[in-house]
Amino acid sequence: MQPLTSRRADALSGSVTAPGDKSISHRALMLGGLAIGETTIYGLLEGEDVLNTGKAMQAFGASVRRDEDGVWHVQGVGVGGLAEPADMLDLGNSGTGARLLMGLAAGHPITTFFTGDASLRRRPMARVTNPLAEMGARFVAREGGRLPLAVTGSATPMPIDYTLPVASAQVKSAILLAALTAPGETTVVEPQPTRDHSERMLTHFGATVRVEDRADGSRAVTLVGQPELVAAVVRVPGDPSSAAFPTVAALLVPGSDVTIRNVGANPLRFGLFETLLEMGADITLENRREEAGEPVVDLRVRGGKPLKGITVPAGRSPSMIDEYPVLAMAAACAEGTTILEGLAELRVKESDRLGAVARGLAACGVAVDEGADRLVVHGAGCPPVGGAVIASGLDHRIAMAFAVLGMVSDKPIVIDDAEPIATSFPSFVAMMNGLGAHIVEGIEEEEA
Ligand code: S3P
Repeated sequence: MQPLTSRRADALSGSVTAPGDKSISHRALMLGGLAIGETTIYGLLEGEDVLNTGKAMQAFGASVRRDEDGVWHVQGVGVGGLAEPADMLDLGNSGTGARLLMGLAAGHPITTFFTGDASLRRRPMARVTNPLAEMGARFVAREGGRLPLAVTGSATPMPIDYTLPVASAQVKSAILLAALTAPGETTVVEPQPTRDHSERMLTHFGATVRVEDRADGSRAVTLVGQPELVAAVVRVPGDPSSAAFPTVAALLVPGSDVTIRNVGANPLRFGLFETLLEMGADITLENRREEAGEPVVDLRVRGGKPLKGITVPAGRSPSMIDEYPVLAMAAACAEGTTILEGLAELRVKESDRLGAVARGLAACGVAVDEGADRLVVHGAGCPPVGGAVIASGLDHRIAMAFAVLGMVSDKPIVIDDAEPIATSFPSFVAMMNGLGAHIVEGIEEEEA
């Protein structure tokens, strides 16, 4: 356990670069590992989740190496060329790593064993194993389809047409990755569009992917099987889900003026920023550009402008699914009630995020109503009392969200275990302190 204390920050100022996008980093290593030739990756997120995916790709026979300039090089084995790992793959805390790699493994005639930490071993996997089993893979899993599990894949999986029962980019991506070796076209229909990094990157590596937006708001994604993937250069944009923390911190701390450079602005990831603007936040998007098929912007965030409570509709949740914990911190300081809807999926993330946010805010003196799939936050128009010890529950985003709230609350907020932050944002504490935060290791006494 590594406790952290976050107490009132000075006005934040400076310019920082968001760490590499986690979703895109996982996919770059996986597709690089499947492509013919050497893939070069700039800006890879060097967080534990992604490093575990790199190790897994090595266990599958790809060569993955980092040079002294921090550039990553992956020699792929070709589609259909993965070797059977000699040992269990441990994906640590990462649902994305585990689920997407299960897709890859399901499309190869090998047996692969997957495990992870206590958080990952609690998370539902049937949502991935069901469609992959339809394609011909065989699984042996714990009760409820949980890890550890073993998958025996097939050299020629069945192409399928599959409608996702939940809006999940991980499930969509697992199916598309398995479909790479399928003889024919596989279509995944998503009721609500989710992040499309797999589609973009598959195209970038030379696969044929067709996307059809349907009149009812659903989206059909079709992959033509058995492409030749060709090594590529990937420039990973900054992660909007990580940029969310300095953004909300700068909005809440009066007098702040922070620029966050190189933030991925994929419309399917940008719901938090839309929501904050609706709440009255002072955020300007500057220097809009495109890198490796993904839109990128710099964000200039100025603090102190009052935020007002709003209703965030369920339809927006896929585009900001990982940002609700930090949005709830902004809502706690806003004037009026914020209603967050369509949050059922938050219950099965690295922790039950809906429960963890509701409990933590209540302990900090914020009035909240927790529903099965919604959260109502009654903002007082000023920061809460704070002064609580928050259980991070192996969840990086819970730890970082409450560290942000501690930057404005009357009394310091303690995070009982900040270790999970290293899964996605190893430089979080240093970056925030560099901007003006006071986040220290250990449990600090309350100020007099
Ligand atoms: C991710 C998809 C989302 C998100 C996760 C990363 C991805 O999960 O919460 O952090 O990279 O595809 P779901 O697919 O479970 O919604």
